[in-house]
Amino acid sequence: MIRLDKYISDAAAYSRREVRLLVKKGAVSVNGITAKSADMKIDEAKDSVCVNGEKLRYRKYIYLMLNKPQGYLSATEDDHDPVVVDLVPDELKHFNVFPVGRLDKDTEGLLLLTNDGHFDHELMSPRKNLYKRYYAELDLPANEEDITLFASGMQFREFTAKPARLEIDPADPCKVYVEIAEGKYHQVKRMWEKAGKKVLFLKRVAIGDLELDASLPCGKVRELTAEELAVFGW
Ligand code: URA
Repeated sequence: MIRLDKYISDAAAYSRREVRLLVKKGAVSVNGITAKSADMKIDEAKDSVCVNGEKLRYRKYIYLMLNKPQGYLSATEDDHDPVVVDLVPDELKHFNVFPVGRLDKDTEGLLLLTNDGHFDHELMSPRKNLYKRYYAELDLPANEEDITLFASGMQFREFTAKPARLEIDPADPCKVYVEIAEGKYHQVKRMWEKAGKKVLFLKRVAIGDLELDASLPCGKVRELTAEELAVFGW
């Protein structure tokens, strides 16, 4: 059970003060009866709350898929650059989401945003062994030796990578797909650097079995479906 003002401010973009004013105006109903007080207790699972006749959908946590454009930092705020949470639509801003992991400023593609710390923790846990799939364009063609090198578990200053999978586009070997189990700083770019090639374009296309929705335009956000969340056991 939670207070009506908390319920409404969690479910919609109203402050607690605004909720109290709405209740005063008689604009809030609970199970069809006009609410008299913002303090009344609500059962999140059972009660139906309407504001101005519109039924609210209560949720505490939200899980968003963003098709990240280049030029945005994977952060909640920054003094100089735009950040990914700027791309969250106004009606979802009050959830105060943050990015799950990071993509570089110049990397595009699949980034999850949530306000659920447990979800973030679970996905970032090395124990989860979640592979991330990237599409990359290189300055030089990739070859069989690169496949062996990536699979060997490359050695870096601060870590040894788990075996990475590499697929080369037979029609254009400068186009590749790389799957890595970690998400260390600049990892894909550093792997290619070790292989003597430069990444010119990088886009994340999947996290585990969750693929970037091909119909989601760059810069747009949508909520994950129940099926998509189930991919992570959520
Ligand atoms: N590897 C990189 O080099 N950059 C990213 O943004 C993600 C993985």
